[in-house]
Amino acid sequence: MLSRQRKMRRRARFRRGEFEDSCVLSRLFRRCCEVSATRGLVHAWIGTRASMVLRNCHNFHDFRRLAKRRLPGPIFDYIDGAADEETTHRRNTKAFESCDLVPSVLRGVGSVDLSVTVMGQKLALPVYCSPTALQRLFHHQGERAVAAAAAKYGTMFGVSSLGTVSLDELRKAHDTSQIYQFYFHKDRGLNRAMLQRAKDARIDIMMLTVDSITGGNRERDLRTGFSIPFRLTLAGMLQFAMKPRWGINYITHERFRLPQLEEHIDMRGSALSIGGYFTEMLDPSMNWDDVAEMVRHWNGQFCLKGVMSPADAKHAAEIGCTGIVVSNHGGRQLDGSRASFDQLAEIVDAVGDRIDVFMDGGVQRGTHVLKALSVGAKAVGVGRYYLYPLAAAGQAGVERALGLMKAELERDMKLMGCIAIGQLSRDNLRLR
Ligand code: FNR
Repeated sequence: MLSRQRKMRRRARFRRGEFEDSCVLSRLFRRCCEVSATRGLVHAWIGTRASMVLRNCHNFHDFRRLAKRRLPGPIFDYIDGAADEETTHRRNTKAFESCDLVPSVLRGVGSVDLSVTVMGQKLALPVYCSPTALQRLFHHQGERAVAAAAAKYGTMFGVSSLGTVSLDELRKAHDTSQIYQFYFHKDRGLNRAMLQRAKDARIDIMMLTVDSITGGNRERDLRTGFSIPFRLTLAGMLQFAMKPRWGINYITHERFRLPQLEEHIDMRGSALSIGGYFTEMLDPSMNWDDVAEMVRHWNGQFCLKGVMSPADAKHAAEIGCTGIVVSNHGGRQLDGSRASFDQLAEIVDAVGDRIDVFMDGGVQRGTHVLKALSVGAKAVGVGRYYLYPLAAAGQAGVERALGLMKAELERDMKLMGCIAIGQLSRDNLRLR
């Protein structure tokens, strides 16, 4: 009886996010690290090791390999994986091979201006960091690293509803444009309260994700038992044991939290998991009238993320959205749905003259970005492109990835014979 109570208490603490205290060894280790000198040494050692290998990362694949080395398997698979057979995920990148760039020469390309103005935001780069969940699980700096790197390169970044740093904190830290990615709740009062909080925090763009009306079938996560709170399988646990450095980082930094939700929903006592949040709190009956009401209430830049059909794109424009993201959630929701790049032209043709069309999915190279901009996207979002560098080396990693992207874009624009993004058009593309 006593041991059952103890087990229940321990389980409750585990659910509250106090995972690290649930075993004697990690408790001992935490004590050790509370001596600040030890902690300083540990962090310095981790920092030096990280920069040593970061210098060898020159593209998406290098960062991905490094992230794989650093992360426990279940966490790497959470980022890397997608739905069902992962066909849409693979096609997202492959789609860029369906057409080729046709460069122009002798056009005097001394200096290149990569800036764009989208949804009222002036960005120094036509690439932004798409909102993604749980970033402090990938590296202890999480959203702080991504926001700082985005600010350094003068572009915008998204904070997920399932973000691990509060949007107010990030707003105070950086002036760069900030997106808040929103999920629609059954409780309309709660939706209004969350919108108000984002308004008070001076968020620039409200982005409602509409492709996640139910969770995608991510079989890699089922195999490892990845969920929040963790419900790891034995195999999953072994993979964590094999990456002690991730564990050191996790344990020696502030507790894992979901501040966007905690402000409004009691995620502690009720032990609501992320899976439970999706099934119990979000509203699968959300429809166009609900969104129209939300757009009116927000009364500012409002974007729908996950629009894949021209009819839906037109509907979004009609209810007052100022932007849409052509996106299939990085292939993590409906497997077999069309690749974002394959679908981009149709949507630009339908609404490109009325609202700003973004796209994301599968972008790994400057030339992918140039192809999407040539078709008519106003800016391009990246997810895994910055998540692997984040996992590999925190802020330094994301900065290096965005720096490489900027250098690629400058070089590729020059090779294309263009000095401003507005000069790209479908004339410089040919289908295979
Ligand atoms: C995502 N994405 C996402 N989208 C969203 O609207 N809310 C979210 O919380 C998340 N979380 C999230 C976590 C992880 C690990 C990934 C990989 C993606 C989707 C994301 O914003 C974007 O649409 C895709 O990542 C784009 O595809 P690529 O660039 O990763 O191929």
